[in-house]
Amino acid sequence: MEILNKFYSKVEGFVTRKALRYINGQEVLALQIDITSNCNLRCTHCYLGEPCASQTMSFEQAVFVIDEYSKLLNKLKMVPCIVIGGGEPLIYQDLVQRLIVYIKEKFVNVEISIITNGTINLKDIQFYTDHEISFQVSLDGATAKSHDSVRGEGNFVKACEFIVTLTQSNISVTSLTVLTSDTSKEIEKQFRLGRKLGLDSVNFTRLISSGNGKRLKSSKLSPVELRTAYMDIVSLSKKVEVLTSTNSPLFCLIDEGLGCSGMFGHQGVVISSDGSLKVSSRADYVVGNIFVTSLLDLFLNDKVYKDLRGHRKSECRDCRYFRKCGGDRNAAFAETGSFMSKDPDCWIDQL
Ligand SMILES: C[S@@+](CC[C@H](N)C(=O)[O-])C[C@H]1O[C@@H](n2cnc3c(N)ncnc32)[C@H](O)[C@@H]1O
Ligand code: SF4
Repeated sequence: MEILNKFYSKVEGFVTRKALRYINGQEVLALQIDITSNCNLRCTHCYLGEPCASQTMSFEQAVFVIDEYSKLLNKLKMVPCIVIGGGEPLIYQDLVQRLIVYIKEKFVNVEISIITNGTINLKDIQFYTDHEISFQVSLDGATAKSHDSVRGEGNFVKACEFIVTLTQSNISVTSLTVLTSDTSKEIEKQFRLGRKLGLDSVNFTRLISSGNGKRLKSSKLSPVELRTAYMDIVSLSKKVEVLTSTNSPLFCLIDEGLGCSGMFGHQGVVISSDGSLKVSSRADYVVGNIFVTSLLDLFLNDKVYKDLRGHRKSECRDCRYFRKCGGDRNAAFAETGSFMSKDPDCWIDQL
Protein backbone atom coordinates (compact mmCIF):
# COMPACT_ATOMS: atom_id res chain seq x y z
CA MET A 1 0.00 0.00 0.00
CA GLU A 2 2.81 2.37 0.93
CA ILE A 3 4.54 1.64 -2.37
CA LEU A 4 1.29 2.38 -4.19
CA ASN A 5 0.89 5.68 -2.33
CA LYS A 6 4.48 6.62 -3.13
CA PHE A 7 3.79 5.84 -6.76
CA TYR A 8 0.63 7.98 -6.82
CA SER A 9 2.42 10.92 -5.25
CA LYS A 10 5.10 10.51 -7.95
CA VAL A 11 2.40 10.52 -10.64
CA GLU A 12 0.75 13.58 -9.11
CA GLY A 13 4.12 15.31 -8.90
CA PHE A 14 4.80 14.47 -12.50
CA VAL A 15 1.47 15.50 -13.92
CA THR A 16 1.39 18.81 -12.06
CA ARG A 17 4.90 19.78 -13.14
CA LYS A 18 4.79 23.11 -14.96
CA ALA A 19 6.07 23.59 -18.50
CA LEU A 20 8.42 26.25 -17.25
CA ARG A 21 10.79 24.49 -14.91
CA TYR A 22 13.35 25.90 -12.60
CA ILE A 23 16.72 24.36 -11.81
CA ASN A 24 18.52 25.97 -8.88
CA GLY A 25 16.17 28.91 -9.21
CA GLN A 26 16.94 29.45 -12.88
CA GLU A 27 14.52 29.04 -15.71
CA VAL A 28 15.16 26.51 -18.44
CA LEU A 29 15.00 27.72 -22.03
CA ALA A 30 14.94 24.65 -24.27
CA LEU A 31 16.48 24.34 -27.71
CA GLN A 32 15.21 21.89 -30.31
CA ILE A 33 17.87 21.59 -32.97
CA ASP A 34 16.50 19.79 -36.02
CA ILE A 35 19.77 18.72 -37.61
CA THR A 36 18.10 17.37 -40.75
CA SER A 37 14.83 17.45 -42.65
CA ASN A 38 15.72 14.14 -44.26
CA CYS A 39 13.80 11.08 -43.14
CA ASN A 40 13.66 7.35 -43.90
CA LEU A 41 9.87 7.27 -43.30
CA ARG A 42 6.91 9.09 -44.83
CA CYS A 43 4.36 9.25 -42.01
CA THR A 44 0.80 10.08 -42.97
CA HIS A 45 0.53 12.80 -40.30
CA CYS A 46 3.99 14.39 -40.50
CA TYR A 47 3.93 18.16 -40.05
CA LEU A 48 7.07 18.42 -42.18
CA GLY A 49 5.17 17.31 -45.27
CA GLU A 50 7.57 15.71 -47.75
CA PRO A 51 11.02 15.45 -46.11
CA CYS A 52 13.83 17.01 -48.12
CA ALA A 53 17.07 15.00 -48.37
CA SER A 54 19.34 17.94 -49.09
CA GLN A 55 18.84 19.86 -45.85
CA THR A 56 21.19 18.50 -43.22
CA MET A 57 23.34 20.74 -41.04
CA SER A 58 27.10 20.51 -41.28
CA PHE A 59 28.88 20.02 -37.95
CA GLU A 60 30.07 23.65 -38.19
CA GLN A 61 26.50 24.90 -38.66
CA ALA A 62 25.28 22.83 -35.70
CA VAL A 63 28.10 24.29 -33.57
CA PHE A 64 27.05 27.79 -34.70
CA VAL A 65 23.50 27.08 -33.53
CA ILE A 66 24.72 25.92 -30.11
CA ASP A 67 26.94 29.00 -29.78
CA GLU A 68 24.04 31.32 -30.65
CA TYR A 69 21.85 29.49 -28.12
CA SER A 70 24.56 29.88 -25.49
CA LYS A 71 24.65 33.67 -26.09
CA LEU A 72 20.86 33.81 -25.67
CA LEU A 73 21.03 31.83 -22.42
CA ASN A 74 23.78 34.07 -21.07
CA LYS A 75 21.77 37.19 -21.87
CA LEU A 76 18.58 35.84 -20.27
CA LYS A 77 20.39 34.07 -17.40
CA MET A 78 18.66 30.80 -18.24
CA VAL A 79 19.85 27.21 -18.25
CA PRO A 80 19.96 24.86 -21.24
CA CYS A 81 18.02 21.75 -22.17
CA ILE A 82 18.61 20.44 -25.67
CA VAL A 83 16.53 18.21 -27.92
CA ILE A 84 18.11 16.84 -31.10
CA GLY A 85 15.46 16.19 -33.72
CA GLY A 86 14.64 16.23 -37.41
CA GLY A 87 13.50 14.68 -39.81
CA GLU A 88 15.18 11.54 -38.54
CA PRO A 89 18.36 12.50 -36.65
CA LEU A 90 19.68 8.93 -36.36
CA ILE A 91 20.36 8.80 -40.10
CA TYR A 92 23.37 10.99 -39.20
CA GLN A 93 24.79 9.33 -36.08
CA ASP A 94 28.33 10.63 -36.58
CA LEU A 95 26.99 14.19 -36.61
CA VAL A 96 24.77 13.47 -33.58
CA GLN A 97 27.69 12.07 -31.57
CA ARG A 98 30.07 14.93 -32.47
CA LEU A 99 27.35 17.42 -31.57
CA ILE A 100 26.71 15.76 -28.19
CA VAL A 101 30.42 15.88 -27.35
CA TYR A 102 30.46 19.59 -28.26
CA ILE A 103 27.33 20.36 -26.20
CA LYS A 104 28.71 18.52 -23.16
CA GLU A 105 31.95 20.53 -23.41
CA LYS A 106 30.01 23.78 -23.69
CA PHE A 107 27.48 23.32 -20.88
CA VAL A 108 27.73 21.71 -17.46
CA ASN A 109 24.96 19.24 -16.48
CA VAL A 110 22.89 19.82 -19.60
CA GLU A 111 19.96 17.49 -20.31
CA ILE A 112 20.11 16.17 -23.88
CA SER A 113 17.46 14.07 -25.56
CA ILE A 114 16.96 12.70 -29.04
CA ILE A 115 13.59 12.35 -30.75
CA THR A 116 13.47 9.46 -33.17
CA ASN A 117 11.20 7.07 -35.03
CA GLY A 118 13.22 4.17 -33.55
CA THR A 119 13.81 2.40 -36.85
CA ILE A 120 17.58 2.85 -37.15
CA ASN A 121 19.83 0.92 -34.79
CA LEU A 122 22.32 2.84 -32.70
CA LYS A 123 25.89 2.17 -33.87
CA ASP A 124 27.43 2.82 -30.46
CA ILE A 125 24.92 2.37 -27.66
CA GLN A 126 27.61 2.75 -24.99
CA PHE A 127 28.23 6.32 -26.18
CA TYR A 128 24.63 7.27 -25.32
CA THR A 129 24.77 5.52 -21.95
CA ASP A 130 28.07 7.23 -21.11
CA HIS A 131 26.72 10.67 -22.09
CA GLU A 132 23.39 10.13 -20.27
CA ILE A 133 21.31 10.86 -23.34
CA SER A 134 17.57 10.20 -23.15
CA PHE A 135 15.32 9.28 -26.05
CA GLN A 136 11.76 9.97 -27.15
CA VAL A 137 10.50 7.31 -29.55
CA SER A 138 7.34 7.80 -31.59
CA LEU A 139 4.74 5.09 -31.11
CA ASP A 140 1.55 5.78 -33.03
CA GLY A 141 -0.57 3.10 -31.44
CA ALA A 142 -0.12 0.02 -29.30
CA THR A 143 -0.28 -2.45 -32.18
CA ALA A 144 1.50 -3.01 -35.48
CA LYS A 145 -1.83 -2.41 -37.24
CA SER A 146 -2.27 1.14 -35.96
CA HIS A 147 1.39 2.22 -35.83
CA ASP A 148 2.29 0.82 -39.25
CA SER A 149 -0.78 2.35 -40.89
CA VAL A 150 0.80 5.74 -40.05
CA ARG A 151 4.51 4.87 -40.20
CA GLY A 152 4.83 2.02 -42.73
CA GLU A 153 4.98 -1.76 -42.51
CA GLY A 154 7.42 -3.38 -40.09
CA ASN A 155 8.13 -0.18 -38.18
CA PHE A 156 6.17 -1.05 -35.03
CA VAL A 157 8.35 -4.10 -34.35
CA LYS A 158 11.49 -2.08 -35.12
CA ALA A 159 10.46 0.72 -32.73
CA CYS A 160 9.63 -1.74 -29.91
CA GLU A 161 12.96 -3.59 -30.38
CA PHE A 162 14.79 -0.25 -30.44
CA ILE A 163 13.16 0.77 -27.14
CA VAL A 164 13.97 -2.53 -25.43
CA THR A 165 17.62 -2.34 -26.53
CA LEU A 166 17.87 1.10 -24.95
CA THR A 167 15.97 0.39 -21.74
CA GLN A 168 18.09 -2.74 -21.21
CA SER A 169 21.15 -0.49 -21.41
CA ASN A 170 19.68 1.76 -18.69
CA ILE A 171 18.90 4.57 -21.11
CA SER A 172 15.82 6.63 -20.28
CA VAL A 173 13.16 6.32 -22.98
CA THR A 174 9.72 7.92 -23.31
CA SER A 175 7.18 7.50 -26.10
CA LEU A 176 5.04 10.03 -27.94
CA THR A 177 1.77 9.19 -29.66
CA VAL A 178 -0.23 11.52 -31.87
CA LEU A 179 -3.88 11.33 -30.79
CA THR A 180 -6.23 10.41 -33.63
CA SER A 181 -9.52 8.53 -33.91
CA ASP A 182 -7.46 5.29 -34.06
CA THR A 183 -4.80 5.89 -31.39
CA SER A 184 -7.29 7.35 -28.89
CA LYS A 185 -8.95 3.89 -28.75
CA GLU A 186 -5.68 2.30 -27.62
CA ILE A 187 -4.67 4.52 -24.70
CA GLU A 188 -4.88 1.79 -22.05
CA LYS A 189 -3.04 -0.69 -24.30
CA GLN A 190 -0.44 1.99 -24.94
CA PHE A 191 0.25 2.39 -21.20
CA ARG A 192 0.44 -1.40 -20.80
CA LEU A 193 2.87 -1.64 -23.71
CA GLY A 194 4.93 1.17 -22.19
CA ARG A 195 5.16 -0.77 -18.95
CA LYS A 196 6.26 -3.91 -20.77
CA LEU A 197 8.91 -2.05 -22.78
CA GLY A 198 10.29 -0.25 -19.70
CA LEU A 199 9.35 3.28 -20.83
CA ASP A 200 9.80 6.06 -18.27
CA SER A 201 6.64 7.74 -19.48
CA VAL A 202 4.03 7.29 -22.17
CA ASN A 203 3.02 10.63 -23.65
CA PHE A 204 0.40 11.87 -26.07
CA THR A 205 0.04 14.94 -28.23
CA ARG A 206 -2.78 16.20 -30.37
CA LEU A 207 -2.73 16.08 -34.14
CA ILE A 208 -1.84 19.46 -35.63
CA SER A 209 -3.22 20.20 -39.09
CA SER A 210 0.15 21.11 -40.52
CA GLY A 211 2.07 19.51 -43.44
CA ASN A 212 0.66 16.03 -44.12
CA GLY A 213 -1.51 16.50 -41.01
CA LYS A 214 -3.74 18.82 -43.08
CA ARG A 215 -4.94 15.79 -45.05
CA LEU A 216 -6.10 13.89 -41.95
CA LYS A 217 -9.25 15.87 -41.14
CA SER A 218 -11.30 12.68 -40.72
CA SER A 219 -8.86 11.23 -38.13
CA LYS A 220 -8.72 14.40 -36.08
CA LEU A 221 -10.58 14.29 -32.75
CA SER A 222 -13.40 16.75 -32.20
CA PRO A 223 -13.03 18.97 -29.10
CA VAL A 224 -15.36 16.72 -27.07
CA GLU A 225 -13.49 13.57 -28.24
CA LEU A 226 -10.21 15.23 -27.27
CA ARG A 227 -11.64 15.86 -23.79
CA THR A 228 -12.51 12.17 -23.46
CA ALA A 229 -8.99 11.21 -24.60
CA TYR A 230 -7.37 13.59 -22.07
CA MET A 231 -9.60 12.20 -19.27
CA ASP A 232 -8.58 8.66 -20.29
CA ILE A 233 -4.90 9.63 -20.29
CA VAL A 234 -5.09 11.02 -16.76
CA SER A 235 -7.09 8.11 -15.30
CA LEU A 236 -5.31 5.29 -17.18
CA SER A 237 -1.85 6.62 -16.29
CA LYS A 238 -2.83 6.11 -12.66
CA LYS A 239 -4.59 2.80 -13.24
CA VAL A 240 -1.71 1.20 -15.14
CA GLU A 241 0.90 3.02 -13.01
CA VAL A 242 2.87 4.47 -15.88
CA LEU A 243 3.80 8.14 -15.91
CA THR A 244 2.45 10.54 -18.49
CA SER A 245 2.93 14.20 -19.30
CA THR A 246 -0.01 16.57 -18.97
CA ASN A 247 2.00 19.72 -19.65
CA SER A 248 -0.25 20.85 -22.47
CA PRO A 249 -2.99 23.41 -22.85
CA LEU A 250 -6.55 22.17 -22.07
CA PHE A 251 -5.43 19.60 -19.47
CA CYS A 252 -6.34 22.14 -16.77
CA LEU A 253 -9.96 21.89 -17.92
CA ILE A 254 -9.88 18.28 -16.68
CA ASP A 255 -8.14 19.13 -13.42
CA GLU A 256 -6.98 22.62 -12.48
CA GLY A 257 -3.71 21.21 -11.12
CA LEU A 258 -2.71 19.99 -14.58
CA GLY A 259 -1.57 21.64 -17.78
CA CYS A 260 0.83 24.36 -18.72
CA SER A 261 0.31 28.08 -18.75
CA GLY A 262 0.43 28.97 -22.43
CA MET A 263 4.19 29.33 -22.49
CA PHE A 264 4.51 29.54 -26.24
CA GLY A 265 7.16 32.14 -26.91
CA HIS A 266 8.77 31.56 -23.51
CA GLN A 267 9.59 27.91 -23.21
CA GLY A 268 12.01 27.33 -26.05
CA VAL A 269 13.33 27.86 -29.53
CA VAL A 270 13.34 25.53 -32.50
CA ILE A 271 16.03 25.78 -35.16
CA SER A 272 15.51 23.88 -38.42
CA SER A 273 18.24 22.31 -40.49
CA ASP A 274 18.49 25.39 -42.76
CA GLY A 275 18.92 27.77 -39.80
CA SER A 276 15.25 28.85 -39.65
CA LEU A 277 14.07 29.90 -36.20
CA LYS A 278 10.57 28.63 -35.46
CA VAL A 279 8.27 29.44 -32.55
CA SER A 280 7.48 25.75 -32.38
CA SER A 281 8.31 22.67 -34.41
CA ARG A 282 4.68 22.12 -35.40
CA ALA A 283 3.84 25.61 -36.68
CA ASP A 284 4.89 26.34 -40.21
CA TYR A 285 6.00 29.88 -39.36
CA VAL A 286 9.59 31.07 -39.66
CA VAL A 287 10.67 33.98 -37.47
CA GLY A 288 13.93 34.46 -39.37
CA ASN A 289 17.21 32.72 -40.17
CA ILE A 290 19.89 32.60 -37.50
CA PHE A 291 22.61 32.07 -40.12
CA VAL A 292 21.68 35.63 -41.24
CA THR A 293 20.39 37.43 -38.10
CA SER A 294 21.47 36.68 -34.53
CA LEU A 295 19.22 34.39 -32.47
CA LEU A 296 19.27 36.98 -29.69
CA ASP A 297 17.94 39.68 -31.99
CA LEU A 298 15.22 37.46 -33.46
CA PHE A 299 14.10 36.04 -30.12
CA LEU A 300 13.93 39.38 -28.32
CA ASN A 301 12.58 41.60 -31.09
CA ASP A 302 10.35 39.55 -33.38
CA LYS A 303 6.73 40.75 -33.35
CA VAL A 304 5.16 37.28 -33.16
CA TYR A 305 7.32 36.36 -30.16
CA LYS A 306 6.40 39.65 -28.50
CA ASP A 307 2.68 39.09 -29.13
CA LEU A 308 2.91 35.55 -27.74
CA ARG A 309 4.76 36.69 -24.65
CA GLY A 310 2.50 39.72 -24.13
CA HIS A 311 -0.75 37.65 -24.25
CA ARG A 312 -2.83 40.84 -24.74
CA LYS A 313 -3.81 39.96 -28.30
CA SER A 314 -4.79 36.37 -27.60
CA GLU A 315 -8.45 35.63 -28.32
CA CYS A 316 -8.35 33.23 -25.34
CA ARG A 317 -7.40 36.00 -22.91
CA ASP A 318 -10.91 36.48 -21.41
CA CYS A 319 -11.27 32.80 -20.49
CA ARG A 320 -11.03 32.10 -16.77
CA TYR A 321 -8.49 29.36 -17.49
CA PHE A 322 -6.27 31.58 -19.62
CA ARG A 323 -3.36 31.90 -17.17
CA LYS A 324 -3.27 28.15 -16.59
CA CYS A 325 -3.99 27.03 -20.11
CA GLY A 326 -3.22 29.68 -22.69
CA GLY A 327 -4.62 27.56 -25.52
CA ASP A 328 -2.50 25.65 -28.00
CA ARG A 329 -0.95 28.27 -30.25
CA ASN A 330 0.25 25.63 -32.79
CA ALA A 331 -3.31 24.42 -33.26
CA ALA A 332 -4.55 28.01 -33.53
CA PHE A 333 -1.94 28.86 -36.16
CA ALA A 334 -2.58 25.66 -38.11
CA GLU A 335 -6.35 26.32 -38.29
CA THR A 336 -6.39 30.08 -38.88
CA GLY A 337 -2.88 31.31 -39.77
CA SER A 338 -2.83 33.39 -36.56
CA PHE A 339 -1.12 32.41 -33.31
CA MET A 340 -3.54 34.69 -31.48
CA SER A 341 -6.82 33.02 -32.42
CA LYS A 342 -8.78 30.75 -30.08
CA ASP A 343 -7.60 27.21 -29.52
CA PRO A 344 -9.74 25.39 -32.14
CA ASP A 345 -9.91 22.20 -30.05
CA CYS A 346 -11.18 23.81 -26.84
CA TRP A 347 -14.39 22.18 -25.61
CA ILE A 348 -15.34 24.75 -22.97
CA ASP A 349 -18.28 26.19 -24.95
CA GLN A 350 -19.40 22.79 -26.24
CA LEU A 351 -20.47 20.99 -23.07
C1 LIG B 1 8.62 15.30 -36.92
S1 LIG B 1 9.00 13.98 -35.85
C2 LIG B 1 10.78 14.01 -35.89
C3 LIG B 1 11.44 12.91 -35.09
C4 LIG B 1 11.28 11.51 -35.64
N1 LIG B 1 11.43 11.42 -37.02
C5 LIG B 1 9.98 10.89 -35.17
O1 LIG B 1 9.14 10.55 -35.98
O2 LIG B 1 9.83 10.76 -33.95
C6 LIG B 1 8.68 14.57 -34.18
C7 LIG B 1 7.35 14.16 -33.57
O3 LIG B 1 6.32 14.97 -34.14
C8 LIG B 1 5.18 14.16 -34.32
N2 LIG B 1 4.34 14.74 -35.36
C9 LIG B 1 4.55 14.71 -36.68
N3 LIG B 1 3.55 15.31 -37.34
C10 LIG B 1 2.66 15.74 -36.41
C11 LIG B 1 1.42 16.45 -36.47
N4 LIG B 1 0.88 16.80 -37.63
N5 LIG B 1 0.81 16.76 -35.30
C12 LIG B 1 1.35 16.39 -34.12
N6 LIG B 1 2.53 15.72 -34.00
C13 LIG B 1 3.18 15.39 -35.13
C14 LIG B 1 5.77 12.82 -34.71
O4 LIG B 1 4.82 11.78 -34.58
C15 LIG B 1 6.95 12.72 -33.80
O5 LIG B 1 6.57 12.15 -32.56
S1 SF4 C 1 7.07 11.96 -38.22
FE1 SF4 C 1 9.28 11.59 -38.04
S2 SF4 C 1 9.54 9.55 -38.99
FE2 SF4 C 1 7.59 10.30 -39.68
S3 SF4 C 1 8.02 11.30 -41.66
FE3 SF4 C 1 8.03 12.89 -40.03
S4 SF4 C 1 10.15 13.09 -39.48
FE4 SF4 C 1 9.93 11.10 -40.54
